[in-house]
Amino acid sequence: MRHFLEMKNITKQFNGNVVLKNVNFFADKGQVHAIIGENGAGKTTLMKILAGLFPPDSGDIFINGQRVHINGPKHAQELGIAMIYQECRLFPDLNVTENIFIRREPLKKLKFIKIIDWAKAHKETYKYLDYFGLNINPKTAVSNLSAGQQKFIEIIKALSQNANIIIMDEPTVALTEQETELLFKVIKDLKKLGITVIYISHRVEEIKKIADLVSVIRDGELIVTKDINTTNIHELIKAMSGKEVYDKYPKLKVKTGKNILRVENLSYNDKIKNINFELSEGEILGITGLTDSGKDVLARVLFGIVGPFQGKIYINGKAFKSMDPYTAKINGLCFVSAIDTEEGLISNMPTNVNITITNLQRISTMGFIDNAAESYHARDMIERLEIGCNENDIISILSGGKKKKVIFAKWLFTNSKIFIIDEPSAGIDICSKVDIYNIINELVLSGTAIIMVSSNIEEIIGMCDKILVMYNGEIRKVLDREHATEQKILYYASGGKDD
Ligand SMILES: Nc1ncnc2c1ncn2[C@@H]1O[C@H](COP(=O)(O)OP(=O)(O)OP(=O)(O)O)[C@@H](O)[C@H]1O
Ligand SMILES: [Mg+2]
Repeated sequence: MRHFLEMKNITKQFNGNVVLKNVNFFADKGQVHAIIGENGAGKTTLMKILAGLFPPDSGDIFINGQRVHINGPKHAQELGIAMIYQECRLFPDLNVTENIFIRREPLKKLKFIKIIDWAKAHKETYKYLDYFGLNINPKTAVSNLSAGQQKFIEIIKALSQNANIIIMDEPTVALTEQETELLFKVIKDLKKLGITVIYISHRVEEIKKIADLVSVIRDGELIVTKDINTTNIHELIKAMSGKEVYDKYPKLKVKTGKNILRVENLSYNDKIKNINFELSEGEILGITGLTDSGKDVLARVLFGIVGPFQGKIYINGKAFKSMDPYTAKINGLCFVSAIDTEEGLISNMPTNVNITITNLQRISTMGFIDNAAESYHARDMIERLEIGCNENDIISILSGGKKKKVIFAKWLFTNSKIFIIDEPSAGIDICSKVDIYNIINELVLSGTAIIMVSSNIEEIIGMCDKILVMYNGEIRKVLDREHATEQKILYYASGGKDD
């Protein structure tokens, strides 16, 4: 039987590295086909080929039985293929409607000339927003939206282009549990409309909920395609990594030391209000909440990325009334950012520079950068974190998960004493996740304190000693490890109170 979409014997190499080897992939209408695999396995590359970003070296693509030679993103769009990328591709300064209709604005005739019919475009946008139950003003600039809301705008954009194959590359990475549930509802609606959804994710549990089929890619090869009902998580993880993973959250019991950070009545622009907490050496503090709860803002205020704030931050007993990243850094703080943003990496520079840039002193002799030392330390980090790249690789060519590991590497290189980690496992495959948790364990054993900002409740419960649940800029509840459950966290995160 022919399938609606068929990719046959797809092979691709980059500078002599074979990234995809004879991959056969198919999908039918109204079907959700998930693709899973470790970081760097080739998932995004396979889908970028379908989206026309680059051609395969060999292999064929058929849509509806017709062989197609996709010669660019625009052609892919004409064929009804839309891809929602790992990194956001919207224009931050344009509003929601402008982003959705960019370069395809509806026109209206005014006497002899045609002008853009913004009223119609806004109405159209509003229709979609309403359909998804999103409370967003079409005239809001995209930069004012949360990462989750931006994902929905991208989906709406694809829909409005009449896509019948929608590729989602790790769409839930920046989404809260609520937004994720909403996305799943949307995907079910897309299925009913006969749309094919190709869904790349590291969250094997969520694939169970929405996918019909799942394919596993390992080292550029398609290992297996399975009906979701005839497989299980253990089998899939084994196919992904070639080994079995049992303990997802290797939490250690570590004796905590002296107080290292204290926050007193911290407020910023109504986004966080009167925050108080303490952190000790060896402790892992979790901060969770829904999209606009203020958890991301709190992390950024602590590191001085946004400000000025009211209240005080005490680091090792020393009071600070203001903060900036430089001061934060020299006082032992570091910020491991969630996604590939300017907070994280310099994307046109090689990996070794990105890793060592945080501590130039360590690789310099008499004020000059010692290239041999730079290489040595970078290679050491690449090996320790099993990043699986070359020290000279330019950041922009690394896969999403590898970039995240490089961000980790660069901060490990500084010997910071307080790690603020934003969404530690976003975009990271299951095996690497355990690697990252083990690195966190190594850090706390050496007395480092960790602040883990995460919307993944399971991870928060799995790894943290103490959990702050935020709602509307406030700390709604502090839970310790023994008393935290998913239900409780969701209750307080959605505004619930103790009576
Ligand atoms: N433009 C490029 N030039 C050179 N190498 C590339 C390029 N794009 C991707 N690669 C390499 O191809 C391999 C596969 O990358 P890809 O992005 O497809 O992985 P992935 O399975 O999506 O991983 P992740 O889960 O981390 O996103 C990686 O080793 C990556 O470094
Ligand atoms: Mg990828």
